[in-house]
Amino acid sequence: MAAIKKIGVFTSGSDSPGMNAAIRAVVRTAIYYDMEVAGIRRGYEGMINGEISPMDRKSVANIIQRGGTILKTGRSEQFKTIAGRKRAYDQLKKNDIDALVALGGNGTLIGAREFGEEYKDIAIVGLPCTIDNDLLGTDFTIGYDTAINTVIEAVDKIRDTAESHDRLFIVEVMGRDCGLIALRTGIGIGAEAIMIPETRSDMNALFNRLERGRKDKASKIVMVAEGDEPGGAFEIGRIIQEKYPNYDTRVSILGHIQRGGKPTCMDRVLASRLGVAAVERLREGHTGEMVGLIHNSIAYTPFEQSVKHHVDVNAEFLKIVEILSL
Ligand code: F6P
Repeated sequence: MAAIKKIGVFTSGSDSPGMNAAIRAVVRTAIYYDMEVAGIRRGYEGMINGEISPMDRKSVANIIQRGGTILKTGRSEQFKTIAGRKRAYDQLKKNDIDALVALGGNGTLIGAREFGEEYKDIAIVGLPCTIDNDLLGTDFTIGYDTAINTVIEAVDKIRDTAESHDRLFIVEVMGRDCGLIALRTGIGIGAEAIMIPETRSDMNALFNRLERGRKDKASKIVMVAEGDEPGGAFEIGRIIQEKYPNYDTRVSILGHIQRGGKPTCMDRVLASRLGVAAVERLREGHTGEMVGLIHNSIAYTPFEQSVKHHVDVNAEFLKIVEILSL
């Protein structure tokens, strides 16, 4: 492949804290290596519509600390079609873009894989940006650390109320198909139990856990991932209340506060490292890969392997919750 002259960068799918730090790293690394760089707004949809404009070192000034994405984001039904991807390709050619850095989660990387298979003359690499941490090929995705810190801050506050009123709280966190937010924060806040889509959620096991616990415990918190099979926190709360009418049960759904806010230092550094590595990888002539971090080293994983449903739940973590909730 000929030397890359112009890189297009975009964010797609759900926003995640640290996306701006990654955009900044991509833009500045491209400039550092004497390449041009263009920002594509609104993800694949903006690519199709030609929302493409040049970026320079100043256009990414003062964004490392900001949540969301300055390039805006969204989901594109059109890009799922062959005709939509052709329109996107034509726009990229019109703008002389010969390489792409795609920032997003599972859906973004699936789109990148399809595009890369169809159009070989535009190199494309991806950066894992999602709060869910559900991509194979990186120990942590950009945004996960910020999200879990947001969750524990919120649940620590809920704990004050739970403790004061002797209540049982069912707290629902994000993760449609993945329980890694619930799992890690469950340990972080000292949960009674966690319920995640990766393990079969057995209500009887939860009842046993609640009955086995210390009778003098003032507060109890059960962490539930939104994708858990029994039907989310309200349904679990209803079942518990029915079984234990003497419990003062409340449900709290944390929702989109988990997606926003200033990225933590861990996310800023991760985004910066991966942004630099993505541009360097393109320069070396690679395409069709997600750039991640495994055991603190940069790692490259082909798109077809990086998409979700591969990430295993750490059995040690489940055991820790069981042991420490006594
Ligand atoms: O993929 C990130 C995520 O926050 C999931 O955890 C959640 O299920 C989903 O996005 C919600 O997306 P939205 O509300 O933007 O449609």
